[in-house]
Amino acid sequence: MNGWRYQAPARSPLSARAVIAGVRGVARNGRGSARSEGRVVELLTARYGPRDVLLTDSGTTALTAALIGVLKDRPGAVALPAYGCYDLATAADGANAPVLLYDLDPRTLAPDLTQLHEALRQGASAVVVVHLYGHPVDLSGVKGLAAERGALVIEDAAQAAGATLDDRSVGTQCSLAVLSFGRGKGLTGGSGGALLAYDDAGARVVEAVRGLLGAPRRGWPELLTIAAQLIFERPRLYALPAALPFLHLGETVYRAPRPLRRPSRVSAPVVGATWHLAEREAETRRHNAERLLSALRWQPGFETISTPPRARPGYLRLPVLASPAVRRSAMEPAARRLGVMPGYPQPLCDLERFRQRCWNRDAAFPGSRVLAARLCTLPTHGRLRLRDLERLELWIRIASGS
Ligand SMILES: Cc1ncc(COP(=O)(O)O)c(C=O)c1O
Repeated sequence: MNGWRYQAPARSPLSARAVIAGVRGVARNGRGSARSEGRVVELLTARYGPRDVLLTDSGTTALTAALIGVLKDRPGAVALPAYGCYDLATAADGANAPVLLYDLDPRTLAPDLTQLHEALRQGASAVVVVHLYGHPVDLSGVKGLAAERGALVIEDAAQAAGATLDDRSVGTQCSLAVLSFGRGKGLTGGSGGALLAYDDAGARVVEAVRGLLGAPRRGWPELLTIAAQLIFERPRLYALPAALPFLHLGETVYRAPRPLRRPSRVSAPVVGATWHLAEREAETRRHNAERLLSALRWQPGFETISTPPRARPGYLRLPVLASPAVRRSAMEPAARRLGVMPGYPQPLCDLERFRQRCWNRDAAFPGSRVLAARLCTLPTHGRLRLRDLERLELWIRIASGS
């Protein structure tokens, strides 16, 4: 029976009610859409406490808009981590922003402050910091360095649903924060994103870019996607979509920038309908991650990532540094069926077209290269049953050779 099980590497909490909310959203007129967007703004305001919120059609749009808005007032480059989701590159391309990359510490996924300091010295006027896989980064050091140079810090919390630091939601530490409600995120609307502003500088950026967003799409593709996701995320069925190469499931592909838009009509109703499911799912992910973390302890082929004190990761997936042998084993079909995935395959400085806009593209980014070579993620989501966790634990022991 277990031979039929195929786990997705990550999942967004969905329900039949959410799909119905999406269907109603597609059918709604502008006024109905404004009501469900207003509700999502209220929910976001209650959780994050921003001064202003801009809903968008994706996290990439939110980040692109943030970069455009910041660079308008503060010409210069944008500092990005050299390792991360390729949508960071898409956003910089979309904003036509010069880029200075900075390295990450592979053991904490936090910025290398020496390189960040250098990027600021070379002219970065905006710094984007990413909470990779929902691992909270304590931004006090980054904020101190940025303040010395008058640069603005943007927190990219696209992967950080459910994560907290000092009992506050991740995505509340800086002038601006970006959220994503895309496919596979901890909170989904099929697509969508938000830009949150916390101070005068952030609010000025939101005001400056609000008018740049084009008319929303109805969201038929998103609606189909969430309906398919609800059905096919089941471990008995997931082998089907996973075998379809054109879906690119779990793959990291660069996407060219697209026009900036307001959220589709599906996005806000689905986010509203899954808000509480997402809270429960985050607790489940943490519980599963903790169990896997104890299985990983003392296993020679794995190194776990350390978290800052007082942080509760959201564990969209559980990142680990794997030995070369374990990383090879993570690429095999048996591991894929358990939901194990290698991380992003290349640092951003190696992305062919994007690297042209990186002023320091030839600098060494040793931490990011370690991450590209060694990072793997284990699944943590709520579709894992006890037997899946036990099979993951067995895989950990076998891959580690113990
Ligand atoms: C760190 C990060 N930033 C931004 C994005 C873009 O979000 P979206 O897929 O909603 O465009 C993603 C998406 O995976 C991401 O992981």
